[in-house]
This record gives sequence, structure tokens and C-alpha cells, in this order.
Amino acid sequence: MTRTVFVNGEYLPEDEAKVSIFDRAFLMADGVYEVTSVLGGKLIDFAGHAKRLERSLNELDIKKPAVFDDLLEIHRELVRVNGIEDGLVYLQITRGAPGDRDFVFPDPETTEPTVVLFTQNKPGLADSPAAKTGMKIISIEDVRWGRRDIKTVQLLYPSMGKMMAKKAGADDAWMVQDGHVTEGTSNNAYIIKGNTIITRALSNDILHGITRAAVLRFAREAQMQVEERNFTIDEAKEADEAFITSASAFVMPVIEIDGVNLGDGTPGARTARLREIYLEESRKAAV
Ligand code: PDD
Repeated sequence: MTRTVFVNGEYLPEDEAKVSIFDRAFLMADGVYEVTSVLGGKLIDFAGHAKRLERSLNELDIKKPAVFDDLLEIHRELVRVNGIEDGLVYLQITRGAPGDRDFVFPDPETTEPTVVLFTQNKPGLADSPAAKTGMKIISIEDVRWGRRDIKTVQLLYPSMGKMMAKKAGADDAWMVQDGHVTEGTSNNAYIIKGNTIITRALSNDILHGITRAAVLRFAREAQMQVEERNFTIDEAKEADEAFITSASAFVMPVIEIDGVNLGDGTPGARTARLREIYLEESRKAAV
């Protein structure tokens, strides 16, 4: 079935949607994005994603597009016309297409940002088998740029990281900088020791995950301790449990790191409980 997508103010069949070859995101990865999940036809944590999007635009000095205040309605309309019960909405805003290639930013008075949104249908997104089996992780060096707090479309290294994991027979990679885990290729990383969740503190080194914020809040409400600090791969290998979070994976257990089983090598009970709480509360608050 052909999807209806949104491009620069218009709803179009996907095969009729076009952006310029001079678009700054195509030539320079000069764009930012958000991924919002849909459960039961409703958007999870939309307000958090919109807020982070605004921050990403500000940090890069990209003009807010005229449709910015209509983004919730556009998300909802795409979910409706594409009949999405469970899935994702991908949104991208770029610095626009000035009509030629130049390192210098175009004048925002004459070049409008490009706005693209499309849906991805993923029936049963919250019942992913990986939630029951758990994920195998390898560690790789983090060689990304220094502003990972901005959600840019420069995803080549994360994409290479996933391929390295796949080649090694694993599901994903955790990236390591100066001996400490930063985050997963497309998710935030956590370990659990006893009743304590340990995850890297927020800084320019990692994306400030929307799911991370919610999960840490729920964890504290459930009387778990939260330590926002650096941890090493060696510490992770000795943890009782580990997991990742993202808008598309929610809370997903990790059972193996660099070939070493965590605990008994099956998903941990605390991770399972956090996933349950996150899904339950997020569904309640969905819009
Ligand atoms: N990725 N860290 C990185 C590097 C990410 O790319 C993501 C999200 C996260 C988790 O953020 P959130 O909880 O707000 O989704 C952390 C999205 C899902 C993606 O690129 O598809």
C-alpha cells in the first residue's frame, strides 16, 4: 500500500514526494529529526519530542518552519490516513535547499527549511520478541562528533556500528569513549546492580533520550536508585542486568556484552518491570 507522506505543507502519495538535490541535508547532513512511536493509534511522548526538536533547531540556528505549531496535527493526520495502530512517525527538518552547494549557511530569509514526515507501520511494536529474548551487544569505539545532544541526521557511524554488531552475530553496539560507555547506536544504555540503575549523565556526549527521561522518573517512583555516572564495559559485564531505551524499542533487555552473559543470560526481572511500567504509563499519557 502506498503511504501518504507530508512534504513542505502537502500531503502526498510517497512516490510523488520530492526534495531538491540541493537540499542541505542531502549535501551536508544539515538537518535534524525525531522519531515518535505510536501505540493504539496514539502518539507516545509527543511533547518531549517536540521540545527536543525545538532545541536541536536552536542549537544549529535552523529557522523554525512555519508549520512548527501544527506538527501535532500533522502527526495525527498521517497516523489517521495511513491507518497506523502501532508504528512510528519519522520527522525531519533541514536547513532547506538554497539552489546550489555552499558551505556557508543560506540566508534564512530566502531559504525555507524542508519539512518531511512519514509513518512506519509496525504491528505489535510493543510485543517485540526481543523483549523476551534480550539483545546481544558488542562494544565499539565512539568516533562521532562532539554534539551528540543534537539529533542530527548524521547517522553514518551509528549505521556502521549496527553493521559491525550484525557481522559479529550481535544485535547492536554500545559506543565507548575514553573507556566509558556513551550510548547505543540508536538508544541510551543502562546497567543495573542490585536495586540501582546506572546510566551516563546528560552532556553533549549523548542524546538526551525522551524515553530515558520517562524511564528514570518511573524508576525513582518505583523506589529504585538511579546513579547518573560513567561506567565501563568491564563494569557492565559484571552487572546483574542491562537494558537500552529508545522511542522505537521502549525498554529492551540486554543479555550479553562482548560475548559475556549478564547474570544467567536471560532478561532481568527489574528490566521487565520497567518495560511494563513504561508501556503502561506511556499508553495512558498518549495523545
Ligand atoms: N534514536 N541515543 C541515540 C544516539 C539515538 O539515536 C536515540 C534515538 C536515543 C534514544 O532517544 P529517544 O528515547 O528519545 O528515542 C539515544 C531513534 C529512535 C532513531 O534514530 O531511530
